[in-house]
Amino acid sequence: MSAARMLTGDRPTGRLHLGHYVGSIANRVRLHKRYESFFIIADLHMLTTRNTREDISRITDNAREMVLDVLAAGVEPDQATFYLQSAVPEVGDLFTLLQNLVTVPRLERVPSLKEMARAAGKEEMPYGLLGYPVLQAADILCVRAGVVPVGKDNAAHVEVTREIARRFNHLYGDVFPVPELIQAETPALVGTDGRAKMSKSLGNAIDLADEPAVVRRKVLGMYTDPNRIRADVPGRVDGNPVFVYHDVFNPDRAEVAELADRYRAGRIGDVEVKERLAVAVNHFLDPIRERRARFAAERGLVDRLIVEGTERTRDEVRQTVTEVRRAMGLTGAYQRIRRRAERARRVTDPA
Ligand code: TRP
Repeated sequence: MSAARMLTGDRPTGRLHLGHYVGSIANRVRLHKRYESFFIIADLHMLTTRNTREDISRITDNAREMVLDVLAAGVEPDQATFYLQSAVPEVGDLFTLLQNLVTVPRLERVPSLKEMARAAGKEEMPYGLLGYPVLQAADILCVRAGVVPVGKDNAAHVEVTREIARRFNHLYGDVFPVPELIQAETPALVGTDGRAKMSKSLGNAIDLADEPAVVRRKVLGMYTDPNRIRADVPGRVDGNPVFVYHDVFNPDRAEVAELADRYRAGRIGDVEVKERLAVAVNHFLDPIRERRARFAAERGLVDRLIVEGTERTRDEVRQTVTEVRRAMGLTGAYQRIRRRAERARRVTDPA
């Protein structure tokens, strides 16, 4: 067998932000050269919560920005296969077949789905959203990925995939590798507003593509210790989003330690801590901005990557589906019917 494969990706709902970076992009960048790597632009998954004409009309631009973000973050274009999920319709064939290998109560226990339904303002669970992890299993299994680096909220989907893969292999023979989940050790990055999670829809995100002035404005507006009304009041460092970000993005440990000491002692204003953070975050983003500008300037690059990747993935998926149908005995079923039809035709119409 060839080298193990990696599959990861996102729904094309907007720009990637620092939360994505910490949660999974850092891992993708680190791992993508070690595997044969596939990056899905999961527009069919997007439809489970956003399916208006307007949402759909934005796929084209969002796909491009997403690929640019991933390249900017450090993925090399010649070491990754990018593809648009809806342009590989054969994934739907696999999705249909996998639906019989998992139960409704099992899917109802996946916590992220309820959250997604709530966030999308759905009072009842849409059928497609309940099937979200099964569609994701189809993505993962149709390229036979061995590793899947994703953020925390996707962990349960990979677990469902593992169960489906084992169930399939048990019923029909060894076709699928049971994929391994790769997760960031760090907890989800808090939002700039101090809410548990950085998220585009909450408006508390710093995007990878944000300009330096935008980053500075967002950092200066960050939530800190709410009890600290003046610079001479001792402040809380633990769980303070500004210090959480310093820990993650400021490589100057001595500076961070000094800021934290002065903060606890009430000997520094919030503004100064934030100004230093803005510098650190912009420093962190500079090489990403540089790569983004470089790839964006290569005319046609991103579109070509998506087209070539989609064709290549489509070939792979066709092969997998053929093998799956054969393993299940579906190919044989139709072949037998065809042979019978052929024999009958010869008997009734001997000429
Ligand atoms: N569920 C992922 C998200 O949160 C997107 C996705 C769809 C995915 N199919 C995948 C990720 C397969 C990894 C592997 O946006």
